[in-house]
Amino acid sequence: MPPRRLTNADLVAELAAKGVETSDEWIVERTGIRARHFAAEGVYSSDLGLEAARSALQAAGRKPQDIDLIIVATSTPDMVFPSTACILQNKLGANGCAAFDVQAVCSGFVYALAVADSMIQTGAAKCALVVGAEVFSRILDFNDRTTCVLFGDGAGAVVLEASETPGILASDLHADGKHVGILCVPGHVSGGAILGDPLLKMDGQAVFKLAVGLLESAAKATLAKAGLTESDIDWLVPHQANIRIMQSTARKLKLSMDKVVVTVAQHGNTSAASIPLALDTAVRSGQVKTGETLLLEGVGGGFTWGALLLVL
Ligand code: UT7
Repeated sequence: MPPRRLTNADLVAELAAKGVETSDEWIVERTGIRARHFAAEGVYSSDLGLEAARSALQAAGRKPQDIDLIIVATSTPDMVFPSTACILQNKLGANGCAAFDVQAVCSGFVYALAVADSMIQTGAAKCALVVGAEVFSRILDFNDRTTCVLFGDGAGAVVLEASETPGILASDLHADGKHVGILCVPGHVSGGAILGDPLLKMDGQAVFKLAVGLLESAAKATLAKAGLTESDIDWLVPHQANIRIMQSTARKLKLSMDKVVVTVAQHGNTSAASIPLALDTAVRSGQVKTGETLLLEGVGGGFTWGALLLVL
């Protein structure tokens, strides 16, 4: 995460100065968020992704030259094109390997992992770097208290390698474009100008209601594909948008909250970066251990949703 950390109190004070009223109590009670990080001006998704990538490569004992595929999940790319993956590839010094972005908003990391897994299974790649990186602070409307308190910036990464023993057991991806309008940034670049609103719009209640049902169905479909049941899950690593959504999913999967990795309090909703940030925290703290079964799941704009089951 970038170094600039704003607690709820810091953000409440900044917003109050602009005449936007909110409170630490409201944010904590409705979302579980206590702090978020915002990137400094001139710091892009590729910069945050680069730090995460270096850290993941070091943890995996691999060098940039070992990587033959880079997938970056982001909805806040550095440029319209080329992809953030290409920019990151050059900064990392992994030039020559395949590199592209996946755009599935908050489901992006689950989508990107599933794509990398498929490419490894077909032999198209042997060693993949999968990154979730976002600078959502750039697309927030700080006059809209219903959204600007929810999101933060960050990045996380993993290295996947071909192996005789499967790490990723199954995945289940979906989208339904009829819900485009409930979570979107409707503006676009045209003729040298931005047409439409370039800031995030969300119907929070509509997203909440859809998320709860869809996450349950994706989780159950993924378990069924792997021939496993809820009781086989050691850890649920959900997209970190709202503690209440995570609690509801855990209830539906009959999992105690002790089995859910929760980091939303410390970084807010970082979209495609939230699952790898949660995973990183859980692995490095020793909470989650090698050999354990993890269910990852995400939901976001599109509407997109998906789940992925893996043995660490
Ligand atoms: O990452 C992609 C997925 N995104 C999500 O999963 C987000 C899903 N949605 C949510 O997490 C929740 O719907 C929110 C956290 C966005 C909102 O929580 P809610 O419990 O659904 O609140 P609400 O929208 O029903 O608003 C309740 C009240 C309203 O006031 P009235 O109409 O009851 O007087 C809002 O105006 O809270 C008010 N409110 C606020 N008050 C203080 C909304 N935002 C704020 C705020 N501070 N920041």
